[in-house]
Amino acid sequence: MPRAGGSYVKAALRKFAPYTPGLQPAEEEGWVKLNTNESPWPPSPRVIQALRSGVGENLRLYPDPLSRGARSAIARHHGVGEDQVALGNGADELIELCFRAFTGKGQAVALLQPTYPVYEPVAAVHECRVSRHPYTADHTLPESFAADEAPLKFVANPNSPTGTWLDRQAVLEVVNGSSGVVALDEAYVDFAPEERTDLIRNGHENLLAIRTFSKSYALAGMRLGYALGTPELIAALNLVKDSYNVNRLGAVAAVAAIEDGEYHDALVEFVLQQRKALTAGLRARGFEVLPSAANFVFCRPPASHRAADMAAALSERQVLVRHYQQEPVSGWLRITVGTSEQHEALLRTLEEIVR
Ligand SMILES: Cc1ncc(COP(=O)(O)O)c(C=O)c1O
Repeated sequence: MPRAGGSYVKAALRKFAPYTPGLQPAEEEGWVKLNTNESPWPPSPRVIQALRSGVGENLRLYPDPLSRGARSAIARHHGVGEDQVALGNGADELIELCFRAFTGKGQAVALLQPTYPVYEPVAAVHECRVSRHPYTADHTLPESFAADEAPLKFVANPNSPTGTWLDRQAVLEVVNGSSGVVALDEAYVDFAPEERTDLIRNGHENLLAIRTFSKSYALAGMRLGYALGTPELIAALNLVKDSYNVNRLGAVAAVAAIEDGEYHDALVEFVLQQRKALTAGLRARGFEVLPSAANFVFCRPPASHRAADMAAALSERQVLVRHYQQEPVSGWLRITVGTSEQHEALLRTLEEIVR
């Protein structure tokens, strides 16, 4: 592989370690894919239909730069104003927009550890200083986090890769104790015990919630995410975004998806049932499994089996799960909740490996 940019790349990126996404095999056929927390179900038939109808001659025209149709559908769904919604090319883009809008070169971003591994490389691109706060042993927030004076901090809740869930009081303590913006990354919140959009409706001036259509709406391939917050925070994101960050078909899919609540709720219910089954299946085979509030489980293989070796052995047999080399999670595997057939294939293959 050539060295990115050779000698032209800016000095801050000479030792840059990018985020490595989970493997997307070129051929989908034949793989049991439980590595990137995609939906086990396809998107709603209403979404597919809307997308088909959306393919037409008007694709020659740029989309509405403010995606007003989609923002207003999302706003209706959550009972907030249209000016409280920003749309992006996946939640990942909204995360990046937070760096553009709220912190900068030499300034800080406060992160928890372990957390979603995308924040660190984005911080490096923006030449931000990272202040790191390890979670407590029982996965609650350290006191130092709320007190950190960084202009921007991220809290993934439910967290990834652990799947753990912070109670309302803990979230409020961070929001109320922080002088800067708290970006509450709620990519997995639809699988959690409680819906918390009321925190946005209550108008905390420094709170931004980030959501995605990739998980509970089964639209990872469309790249759609959104942020909810006060009109001032949303205006800041819109100020720094690229003009046409959501394409015409993406906006069409967002409206159809958010309006098909029945399909969404059925999908979430299916995942919750399957999460229970997967947790039980893994525990029965000697794995330690953390209670999960997300569409994946975080588990530790039985003693004498290394997580890295197990992920590699599974992958050789075309079963993909996620393993991170970094501490404190290198002894664990993150496994997406799938269909019963996928779980059976996973558990059967695990038995072959541990035999
Ligand atoms: C915590 C967290 N935030 C954000 C994202 C990104 O979501 P999107 O696919 O909308 O970019 C993910 C994706 O896995 C995630 O785990």
